[in-house]
Amino acid sequence: MNKRSVWVLVIAAAVLVGIILVVLAGGLLFLWNRSARTVTVAPGSLQGYASNGETIYFTGVNDRGQRISFSSGPPWLSMHGGGCASCHGPDGQGGAPVMMGTETPPDIRYHHLIEEEHEAGEAHPPCTDETIKRAITEGVNPAGESLDLTMPRWQIPEEDLNDLLEFLKALD
Ligand code: HEC
Repeated sequence: MNKRSVWVLVIAAAVLVGIILVVLAGGLLFLWNRSARTVTVAPGSLQGYASNGETIYFTGVNDRGQRISFSSGPPWLSMHGGGCASCHGPDGQGGAPVMMGTETPPDIRYHHLIEEEHEAGEAHPPCTDETIKRAITEGVNPAGESLDLTMPRWQIPEEDLNDLLEFLKALD
């Protein structure tokens, strides 16, 4: 092999390695994006929701464009934003573990919360409107016990909280 063909080989190998790296990086970015999308609902998309309660439920932002702040909850919620639907699901039935969560989000449809019989593992007295609000803002159940810190404590204005509760009542 003369000097020239060695150079051609070296350059061809470099180009090949470059292509492989680009494909790998693209694949990783794709996977990373996809895993981020499975847990969050795009915030700020305020169009298409029928009520303020629904907007907050799906985006964590009220219809005046203000993000509802919260403490606790997993770090991805602070980073990407999101609402109740990010954990309790679009239909409120919960039941699916969430990333970095230490407790599975339960069913929060109103009729379920006020039932006498709760499923095993989430046993507590039936909720009232007042205790549901307390669960959302203070993270305690009707028995006064602290909820798992996977459930954020929402600093939500009273009128937004009422709208949100109306939406939970309509979920079925
Ligand atoms: C990051 C995930 C996450 C988000 C977001 C979230 N929750 Fe929760 N929520 C949970 C988990 C987990 C529990 C269960 C806590 C426990 O059992 O200790 C819970 C519990 C609750 C409960 C108490 C249910 C019961 O059976 O007593 C209510 C009510 C509730 N969430 C409402 C909401 C509402 C309304 C929103 C939106 C404003 C919301 N959650 C957002 C994870 C989340």
